[in-house]
Amino acid sequence: MPVPRHVAIIMDGNGRWAKARRLPRIAGHRQGVEALRRVTRAARELGIEALTLYAFSSENWRRPEEEIGDLMGLLRHFLRNEIDTMVREGVRLRILGNYRVLQDDLVRLIDDAVARTASNDGPILAIALNYGAQAELVSAARRLAERVAAGMPVEAIDEAAIDRELDTQGLPPLDLMIRTSGEQRLSNFLLWQAAYAELLFVETLWPDFDGAALADAVAAFGRRQRRFGGL
Ligand code: IPE
Ligand code: IPE
Ligand code: MG
Repeated sequence: MPVPRHVAIIMDGNGRWAKARRLPRIAGHRQGVEALRRVTRAARELGIEALTLYAFSSENWRRPEEEIGDLMGLLRHFLRNEIDTMVREGVRLRILGNYRVLQDDLVRLIDDAVARTASNDGPILAIALNYGAQAELVSAARRLAERVAAGMPVEAIDEAAIDRELDTQGLPPLDLMIRTSGEQRLSNFLLWQAAYAELLFVETLWPDFDGAALADAVAAFGRRQRRFGGL
């Protein structure tokens, strides 16, 4: 059965998971980090080459300051705890999105983790932080415009040239996009890259997602017939 090379997940439903238990939203986010650990391990076991996770969108700054602080705290915790495991297990960490505007210590932690895993040859774990697909495309357009201004012919702008300017450059083509919690929208995630991805919307709330759920998603992907416009 075909295994998707590159899977992206919109990890949604932490807040509703907590609400159903009359817990504060942070409790849902904490369980969400546990799900993230389980699912990255499962992805490796399934032979998925790249797993891209939507952790914080460029629109999530609209949330209350306290929740943003909690999410950044969890990210800090995750990076500190997981870096050694990633190094040991050969995972390559990539970040999508403009993470440089995060707190200085977080930026340092991220840069350190990316550098320490850069020469690994195992699966890629890409985490989207302060990521928005429209902003990603704006940055790509600006860089290409600068090249044209510097003398590059306009005809040199093709699909591959745009691909190279995106945060996902070098990752395998996106095969499968999963969103948990029953919402059926992309929320500004990987708009360009999802052109021919299979979309899968599941009711499970992210904190309840696990390796078995990922295996089910991969099996569902295997039953899809991809045509890419052909017959
Ligand atoms: C997803 O869970 C996590 C982030 C967006 C950081 P939510 O926090 O969006 O959970 P719901 O959608 O409110 O249930
Ligand atoms: C998308 O979830 C972003 C992440 C999972 C990080 P949201 O919960 O922010 O999306 P909307 O607001 O429901 O579209
Ligand atoms: Mg949500």
